This record gives sequence, C-alpha cells and structure tokens, in this order.
Amino acid sequence: MSKVSRRSFLKITAGLGAASSLAPLRSLFSGSPFAGLSAAPLPGSGAGKKPLVISTWKHGIPANDAAWKILSAGGPALDAVEAGVRVPEGDPSVNGVGYGGLPDEECRVTLDASIMGPDGRAGAVAFIESYRHPISIARKVMETTDHVFIVGEGAEEFARKQGFSREELLTEASREAWVKWKQGLSDKDDWFPKDLDHDTIGMVAVDAAGNLAGACTTSGLAFKIHGRVGDSPIIGAGMYVDNEIGAAAATGKGEEVIKTCGSFLVVEGMRQGLAPREACKRALERIIKRHQGKPAFQVAFVALSKDGEIGALALQEGFQYALAAGGANELIDAEHLL
Ligand code: GLY
Repeated sequence: MSKVSRRSFLKITAGLGAASSLAPLRSLFSGSPFAGLSAAPLPGSGAGKKPLVISTWKHGIPANDAAWKILSAGGPALDAVEAGVRVPEGDPSVNGVGYGGLPDEECRVTLDASIMGPDGRAGAVAFIESYRHPISIARKVMETTDHVFIVGEGAEEFARKQGFSREELLTEASREAWVKWKQGLSDKDDWFPKDLDHDTIGMVAVDAAGNLAGACTTSGLAFKIHGRVGDSPIIGAGMYVDNEIGAAAATGKGEEVIKTCGSFLVVEGMRQGLAPREACKRALERIIKRHQGKPAFQVAFVALSKDGEIGALALQEGFQYALAAGGANELIDAEHLL
C-alpha cells in the first residue's frame, strides 16, 4: 500500500459523519500529505473525530482493524490497543514483533512490551522469552500488581502463574536470517546489518468516550546483545499516555528514544500547546541536535491529542503509519525531517 490517495482521502472523510465542515480535516490529517488543507480553527470539542486509532508501520493496518472493532462498538481504548497489537504479535510474517520476531545474537527471541491506560496506570515486561503476547502480560502486571515493570525470568514466571502458555517463538525464517547474519560477521564489521527496519508496533487510541490508551510491543533490534532492552517497554520512552493531554508512541532506534524520553517529550509538547505533529517535530529535533544534525538511524513518532488531532513524523524517509477513523483504515507515508 502506498501514500494515501485522493480516493482514500475521500473515503475517510465520507466516513466522518457529523464532520461536514473542513475544520476537522486539519485535525485528522495533521502530519499527512493533507496537512494544511484547512486553516480553519478546530472545534474545541473535537466532535466527529472519535474514536480514532493510529499505529506504526504497515502491520498497523490489521492491528487497527482489530482495535477498530472494539472502538466502533463503543469499547474502551485500553481494550482496543491491547487487541490491536496482539495481531502483529501473533503474525509470524512480522519479524519485528512477537512470534516470528528476529532473535538476538544468541538466536533467542526476547520481547519487550508496555501498555498504559487513561487512569494513568501502566504495565510493562522486557527481556521475556517464550510468550507470544507480551502485551497481555504487561496488562496483567498493570492490573494485578502494584508494580509497573517486570523483566526476564521474573516476567516469565509471572506469566506462567497468570496462566499464559509457553511456546517456541523462533520461526524457521527467523532462524535462517540469524544464520545469514552470523555467517556474515567479521572482526571488521559493526555488529549489526544497516538495512534492517525496526518495525515495532506502537499504537495510540482515543475511544468514543474520549479516553486515551497506548501499547507498544517489539522483538527489538535484530541480533541485539543478549539482554538488551529498547525503548518499547519503558513508560515515557516507547509509549506514554496522559489522559488530560494526549498519547504518543515511538519506533526506531530505541537507545535514542530512551535518552530523550521521547514519547513523554511528545506528550509534554502537547501539554505546552503544540499540535501533535509539532510536538513530534520538537522531540525529533532534539535527537537531530544530539547527532550534529546528521543522525544515521531512524526514529519516528505517532501522536494523538485528547481531542483527536493526530501527528506522525520521522527522522528519515520510509516510515509509514496506519490511521483508522470514521470507518476507514489507511496506510500513510509519514513526513520526514532529513
Ligand atoms: N524501538 C524498538 C527498539 O529499539 O527495541
């Protein structure tokens, strides 16, 4: 699927129902090729734009479909984001998330995930093996303990006690990719292949009641050092929700997102009055500055304000996000800064 077309644009707007003026379009397409279509001010209530879900990469399309089933029936954003990201977690063709995720340097698939709801509660697991749906384990951490973050063997033991089943997550395709990487290693390379996408799924949603939630789940950097944890399970780095303001999620080089508290920074930008797209831009500009204007890696954010305005922005070309609103679900090429 490619950049949103005029046809699909019309399909989305046709589904907006009550949104008959151009004003809501500025909100819906902020950060898209249609940004700036209207200079009209947003209606304060954001009426007509809820519910809405936005997620990273092309596997965001089937993920959004699952989330939309819940949102369109009036269900809560928290249930929607969990159900949404479980789709790529269970899909072996998605090699950056869950079952079929690319393994670490020891050919072990280790997963990271976080979830956060409108009441400010959060749960996360990291460096967890043998469980296909870390997002649901993260939700159990949030809902059945007063902890936020459980890692490694402790997270696996917690999952076992909660009734989750262990299984082998390494697929033949991922094992073959690891063998190819291993055979290509030399004492002169820099450990990691340069052309691998970080196709984490980050998802943020607003439900019909106006409540926000977010989820983020990944197998992390392919062939990473055993024990490495990225940004995705770190609340405020890979994902953050503030139900008064907005929500954001990240994809790309997790180390850079951690060092800048990326998703928190985006939400705080919105708190200070920036539109979601501008808040993403400010967070990315901080990363650019730290790399003397030339970061040689990808980081991207998706963001959503309390009133349903969206933003999506990347450092480099190539990032796509999926937006479901008004009954349509579209893959959109994001703007990039470099
Ligand atoms: N953004 C995913 C990771 O770096 O692990």
